[in-house]
Amino acid sequence: MYLYHLKAKNIVMSDTPLLVTCGLPYTNGPCHIGHLRTYVPADFFVRYMRHKGEEVIFVCGSDNHGTPIVISAEAEGITPREMSERYNEHFETTFKKMGIDFDRFGMTDDPTNHKRTQEIVQKLIDNNHIYKKIINQSYCPHCQMFLPDRYVEGTCPHCGEKARGDECDQGCGKHLEPGEIKDPICKICGGKAELRDQEHYFFKLGDFSDFLEEYLPQLKGTSNARNYASGWVKEGLHDWCITRTLNWGVKFPGSEELVVYVWVDAPIGYMSFTEEWAEKTGGDWEQFWKGSSPVIHFIGQDIVYHHCVFWPALLKGAGYMPPDAVVASGMVKIDDKKFSKSRGYVVWTNEDYLDLGLSSDYLRYYLLSYTSHTKELNFSWKEYQTRVNNELVDTIGNFFYRTLHFAAKKLGGIPQKEPEQEILAEIEKAILETERSIQEYEFKSAIEAIMALGSFGNAYIQTNAPWKLMKTDEEGAKQVIRNCLQIVKALTILLDAVIPDKAQKSWELLGYGDKVIDHTLSEAKTGFDSEILPNPEIIFDKIEDEKIEEYEKTLRMRVETAKLKEKSQKKEENMITIDEFAKVELKAGRIIEAEKIDGSKKLLRIQVDLGDEKRQIVSGIAQFYNPEELADQDVIVVTNLKPAKLFGVESNGMILAAGEEASLLTTKIKVAPGTKVL
Ligand code: 2FM
Ligand code: ZN
Repeated sequence: MYLYHLKAKNIVMSDTPLLVTCGLPYTNGPCHIGHLRTYVPADFFVRYMRHKGEEVIFVCGSDNHGTPIVISAEAEGITPREMSERYNEHFETTFKKMGIDFDRFGMTDDPTNHKRTQEIVQKLIDNNHIYKKIINQSYCPHCQMFLPDRYVEGTCPHCGEKARGDECDQGCGKHLEPGEIKDPICKICGGKAELRDQEHYFFKLGDFSDFLEEYLPQLKGTSNARNYASGWVKEGLHDWCITRTLNWGVKFPGSEELVVYVWVDAPIGYMSFTEEWAEKTGGDWEQFWKGSSPVIHFIGQDIVYHHCVFWPALLKGAGYMPPDAVVASGMVKIDDKKFSKSRGYVVWTNEDYLDLGLSSDYLRYYLLSYTSHTKELNFSWKEYQTRVNNELVDTIGNFFYRTLHFAAKKLGGIPQKEPEQEILAEIEKAILETERSIQEYEFKSAIEAIMALGSFGNAYIQTNAPWKLMKTDEEGAKQVIRNCLQIVKALTILLDAVIPDKAQKSWELLGYGDKVIDHTLSEAKTGFDSEILPNPEIIFDKIEDEKIEEYEKTLRMRVETAKLKEKSQKKEENMITIDEFAKVELKAGRIIEAEKIDGSKKLLRIQVDLGDEKRQIVSGIAQFYNPEELADQDVIVVTNLKPAKLFGVESNGMILAAGEEASLLTTKIKVAPGTKVL
């Protein structure tokens, strides 16, 4: 609990704690920087709030249910629970390595969430927000099962593109309800699925339009979340089918074969993880979900609908409080290409970054400072290097080292002086500007405000050159360094939200033995605990060009490998079976006569003797043969092609020819017209 209050008039403290959550990662693949785009800013926000003196509870966990996890587990021959536990641990440790420290990191498949989900769904049933309906759903007669969500692929009914069972992922992006997809194909056996009747349960989302119209305009957070959601509500809301035929998930109350749709129990996870945190700490979880303490969700822009339309309606319908704010981050691109794991445009947090010994703080800084939170972030190794080297290493690193080195080595520690007013005013300005930006969820501007104080410090030490001043005015030099040390202290507390690892090191170099996270911004302008400084160290290392080239190479290689894989997959898709080939009927034929077609430079009308019949075939070989020279020529003909009209002339078959110059295929030894090619 932090009891300090900032004196600055513009900073308002709340007396209730705050619950911050982050979108829950699915447990069927490792962490990548697309994930971090949401988690790092959320952690920055939480740390900043704690430095401000607010009490913040930060919860997250993994999203374990749904078909993608079942399908991935089946492919590996393990249970979905085993797969979920593996990735749950992976995410928890990866987040810790990234300095993202949750008060609780749970699992949606744990008992708390099963219980809370069933309680909420039962309340929705009791409150008459759920009804039964028989729907026509995809069913695979070969696998003898209904095909929920990702178990089926087909054509989007809205835009005609290839789509997954639950969303049009390659076309219009629309959410698809069970049974909506056209030409369904079973993902398990590749066979044609059919539609069969099955009873399912629907949530009356449409009944919540009035509530949402009132709620959304006052929803805090980023405007992209609010605006998209308001637009969808205006377009009209459709009821949601909230059950699936699966045996992995939270059982729908009273049903043996149905589980609730993953998007029901996933956000309820936020609530369950708060309960689990409360159980562990003796805290009160209900204050956030039933009372007046605010809840802020940090999510990716692709799941705004679920968090700003579906989730508040679900909470309202079950008698809980909807969230106070939704903060939605823009999507991530890699080297200007759409983020895609299958195409190789991905940067894995461990494999491509942390495992190489790269600083988690550098990545945090890059992700936070690169662009506004709601905009698209285009990751590039070059840009990463430039920012880290120019901003963190050259500005902050240089200023910190010069100050700490001079104080420790030339002055024997912290000079016994007070910082000057001009310096305190600069610090105050940076804090207020950071605060203003964070209140608006403008994290890039917040970083700029902090870095502006860093640039001020760097310019200040350069202009006042205490190393020169020392020779003529020792007291003056001491004052300059004392001022610089105050800026370093303020920056260290501010930067702890951005680069916690480096900030902790800097805190220790300022002579502190405790954790910087336990200190509030009110201390940015106060003095030091001790005058003794430890030996100075360089805490920011430059990233070398060769390293960046290596990382870029890895990315390029991954893209190339993915391309090759796609090519070979396509090749495989293009292969035909012997039965399919046997459908093509090929016969030897003898050309009786050929003539030009009026107006066409390319086409010839050719009469072919096929033994028991004569055929007229239009062929595009006019540029290579005189009609007269073709008479009596033996050729190979596809005889079971559907008739077609070319240049208004009917064609009943195809004469085979090879290459650009249409060399006609023939038999080695003369055979009778009509002989089958086997
Ligand atoms: O889109 C996703 O990755 C989901 N696993 C997010 C769930 S967030 C919440 F609602 F649980
Ligand atoms: Zn099947």
